[in-house]
Amino acid sequence: METIQEEQAMMPRIGDEAPAFTAMTTQGEIHFPQDYTGQWVILFSHPADFTPVCTSEFMTFASLEEKFNKANCKLIGLSIDGLYSHIAWLRTIKDKIEFKGMKNTEVKFPLIEDITMEIAKKYGMIQPGESETQAVRAVFFIDPNGIIRAIIYYPLSLGRNFDELYRVLIALRTSDAFSVATPADWNPGDDVIISPAGSCGMAQDRMEGKDQELECKDWFFCTKKLDKEEVLAAVVKTSTRIS
Ligand code: BEZ
Repeated sequence: METIQEEQAMMPRIGDEAPAFTAMTTQGEIHFPQDYTGQWVILFSHPADFTPVCTSEFMTFASLEEKFNKANCKLIGLSIDGLYSHIAWLRTIKDKIEFKGMKNTEVKFPLIEDITMEIAKKYGMIQPGESETQAVRAVFFIDPNGIIRAIIYYPLSLGRNFDELYRVLIALRTSDAFSVATPADWNPGDDVIISPAGSCGMAQDRMEGKDQELECKDWFFCTKKLDKEEVLAAVVKTSTRIS
C-alpha cells in the first residue's frame, strides 16, 4: 500500500504500460485499455469543471474529435469533479458558450468522473507544487498496445495547442509506419530522418552518396523525402482524409 506522497509521486513514463482503470464517465462506464483495443488514445486532464481555460479547451477538442478519430485516435478527458457537475458543465457549454466561432458544441467523448483522484494519481496528474486538489493539464498519447508514447504537461493557466497535439499523434504514427524519425517542427510532407549509420562502412557509404534516396548533411544526419499523400494514406482514413 503506497503512502499519499508515494501515490502523488507516481509518474508513468514514456514506454510504460498505461495504467489500467475502470471509470464512470459522461458516456457511461469505460474499461481502459480493453475498450480501446487497436486504437490510439489521447487521455487528457483538466483542473476543474466550469473554469474558462478548460471550457475553451473542451470546446476545441470537441470540434476536432472527428479529425482525431479519422487518425484512429479516441479522446478521453478527466477532471476532478463528480458526474453531475460534468453533465451540468457540458450542458452549459452546449447551450450557452461561444468561443472562436464554436457554438452549440456537443462534447461526445467521455469525461471521467474522478472525485477521489484515484485515476489522476495513477497518471501523475496531481502535481502538488501546482495544485494539491486539481489536475494539471496532462496529455498522454497511448498506442494500440496500451503503451505510453508521449506525454505533455501544461500548468493550470496555459491552454493547450491543439495543432501540436495532432502533429504529435501523426508524427508518432508516421514513425511507426515508416520506421523513421521526425525532425524539429516536422509536418506531413517534410523530409524525415533515417536511423544513424550503425557501422563505419555504412557511414562511408552515406558520405559517398551511395543511396540516392538519402540526403546526408553528415554521416550521422541523413534525411529522405516522404510524400505527404503517402503519410496521410498510412495514418489517416483515406475516404475522409483531413490534411
Ligand atoms: C481555467 O481552466 O480557467 C483554470 C483552472 C484552474 C486554474 C486556473 C485556470
